[in-house]
Amino acid sequence: MRIYDDLDALSRAAAEEVADRADRAAAESRWFGLVLAGGSTPRTLYRLLATDFRSRMPWPRVHLFWGDERFVPADHPDSNRRMAQETLISRVPIPPENVHPIPAPGAGGPFTPQEAAVRYEEELRRLFDRSAKRRQGPGFDTVLLGVGEDGHTASLFPGDPALDETERWVRAVPDPPASHEHSRVTLTLPALARAERILFLAAGERKRDAVRTIAIRRQGDGLPAARVRCRGTVSWYVDRAAAAAPEGPD
Ligand code: 6PG
Repeated sequence: MRIYDDLDALSRAAAEEVADRADRAAAESRWFGLVLAGGSTPRTLYRLLATDFRSRMPWPRVHLFWGDERFVPADHPDSNRRMAQETLISRVPIPPENVHPIPAPGAGGPFTPQEAAVRYEEELRRLFDRSAKRRQGPGFDTVLLGVGEDGHTASLFPGDPALDETERWVRAVPDPPASHEHSRVTLTLPALARAERILFLAAGERKRDAVRTIAIRRQGDGLPAARVRCRGTVSWYVDRAAAAAPEGPD
């Protein structure tokens, strides 16, 4: 776990790591698959990638994906895609064909979260097959994730069947807990496990219990965020407000 003074400092450190990894991918002629988190915490990071780190990112090689989405139109105020569009995508020279949002309801469908999940999985598998054939590297290099007070991450909620998915990469979450509006579409644990690196971002006192249980005491095995694994390493970027007294390695 890496502890920073505040959200700005943790976002800048995470942006530094994202830019380093993107640089490395470009140097190895690979594309850099970055999975974006939703919610409010990553906004600062996205703004930094679009400003202070804009010239360091090899945008023609960057491919953007989403870890989850609220099943709302793309221009809806609660859309994770819209948030990323406003804070990052509209401000950087990334080729439009490199932006891979989760399909949103609209003219021509998808009409259900289940349909959106099937479509997104088909797109991911097609892209990853192509990149494998062209030796362009792993589909997901770096995944950004937030965490909820209940230990959820992406739209993998405690007790939801999507959490126990072992095959599919994308699942619909038609009935998230009442505190979370809108049906969801989410990457599953098997999809996240394909990543080379996972960065959890957590800020504010609200997240303290979840951070203490999952990242410090490494308990809460049943909690979604505690079950996230990948090919490489998982790290937590947290601010002082979210971090209890540090215990244990990393
Ligand atoms: C979403 C997110 C979700 C989020 C957490 C934390 O679509 O809501 O993907 O998993 O990361 O709920 O949200 P905040 O960053 O807003 O606290």
